[in-house]
Amino acid sequence: MKHVPWWQSSVVYQIYPRSFADSNGDGIGDLQGIRSRLDYLQWLGIDVIWLSPVFQSPMADFGYDVSDYCAIDPIFGTLDDMDALISDCHARGLRLMLDWVPNHTSDQHRWFQQSRVDSTNPKADWYVWRDEPANNWCCSFTGGGSAWDFDEGRQQWYLHCFLPEQPDLNWDNPEVEQAMHDTLRFWLDRGVDGFRMDVVHLIGKQLDRDDPVRAVARGLAHVVFNDAAVTHERLRGIRRVLDSYPGERASVGEVYLLDEAAMATYYGNNDELQLSFNFSFLWTKWDAAALRDRIKTTLSHLAPRGAWPTWVLSNHDVPRHRQRYGSSEEVARMAAVMLLTLSGTPFMYQGEELGLVDALIPADRVVDPGGRDGCRAPLPWTADHLHGWPHDPWLPFPPEPDTRNVESQQHDGTSILNLYRHMLGIRRSHPALREGGFVMIERDDDVLAFERMLNGERVVVALNLGDVGRTVDVLGGTTLLLSSLGLASRVGTTSVLAAHEAAVVVLA
Ligand code: NOJ
Repeated sequence: MKHVPWWQSSVVYQIYPRSFADSNGDGIGDLQGIRSRLDYLQWLGIDVIWLSPVFQSPMADFGYDVSDYCAIDPIFGTLDDMDALISDCHARGLRLMLDWVPNHTSDQHRWFQQSRVDSTNPKADWYVWRDEPANNWCCSFTGGGSAWDFDEGRQQWYLHCFLPEQPDLNWDNPEVEQAMHDTLRFWLDRGVDGFRMDVVHLIGKQLDRDDPVRAVARGLAHVVFNDAAVTHERLRGIRRVLDSYPGERASVGEVYLLDEAAMATYYGNNDELQLSFNFSFLWTKWDAAALRDRIKTTLSHLAPRGAWPTWVLSNHDVPRHRQRYGSSEEVARMAAVMLLTLSGTPFMYQGEELGLVDALIPADRVVDPGGRDGCRAPLPWTADHLHGWPHDPWLPFPPEPDTRNVESQQHDGTSILNLYRHMLGIRRSHPALREGGFVMIERDDDVLAFERMLNGERVVVALNLGDVGRTVDVLGGTTLLLSSLGLASRVGTTSVLAAHEAAVVVLA
């Protein structure tokens, strides 16, 4: 039997720690809160947790501005809490991935504090300093502002692809590379299973190259253009660190290039990232032809390299997919079926299993400089007015928390939560869905359909994105595993798929 590494066969669940579960009543989620909810994640049936950053941080970018990679921010708990979380996860057969932020630190990191003093100190060259801005790059979150800021103390300009409080590290300096490898080792030694790597395609840069002028005018950040050859060498270095540990430690890179061909190169020759996010797919509209095209394009670039795809619909940076797709519950249910049956590793974002849309954030409660508060709203656990939180949380709850909460939906057999759970169970018991081959069933209507197959088992998935019922011949006479609408009698015996229905069937 072919060995299938865990990062290929797993479903990953992203926890945004501030908004998951609060153990100490300060209105902000924490590590003990996460530990107290592992029963829920096991009941749901996910395999791996990815935690957005919990490291020491002044929180200018809510943890993506790290001031100490080897310390837990007191808001979230202590190093002991993290050790306990790692061992709790492992005792339950769950894996844990941390969020590593290699491109930039916080301006409060001691490395930057030292670096900014003058141009001769031992850390002078750990960040990207110039006598004048070296290019026309824009940074993220400031509406098209320059990625260069002048530092009055050092009397030089430094590069920040994100907020001015997030200076970019200089990976051209081997000392920086070593120091960052050491931060990986610190957590690998404590037993974490891998890392989500924040904007990792930025660790190599071509500073002498301007971005296209048009892009600057549109306020597009440099992030979406950065594709430097030197990054691949650095990813191989990172991979060697991971591979020096037992237990298949894995990376999933945030490679924010909106082009699958370019994104695919970051897997290297199976010696760079094990997995890479695919943002072209995330941004594809809810349309059968568009999705078909995107899925085929993705697979056509990854398959020749033996590279394993990932599928993501929501995360802490973008409006939730139910909302992006028009807010219909039926669509959210179909999207769940699609996410969990495509060929590759699915990533769920906390709360999508409840069918959440973004919270409405009143102007006086906006806190994120990038305007992303809505998708970061706290997870409602119960129907009562605090929804399982011991204190009013830091952001308002998403809409309909009285019903879109974990407890209410656990008790409702028809809820989207139970649909996710059921689908995760089917994925677990049908290896064809996890590890099998993939063939698109070509159609020219609004049905997206594909087959997954392994060792003689053939599973067909069909989603009717249209407003009228459709005949899908291949469904006739099959065994129904699941209908997103709970229409047990519709498919399986007949070949008709209702409007907005997704079906998963086994071919006889
Ligand atoms: C991508 C992260 O997902 C986002 O939240 C963050 O603001 C930027 N990288 C900068 O670290």
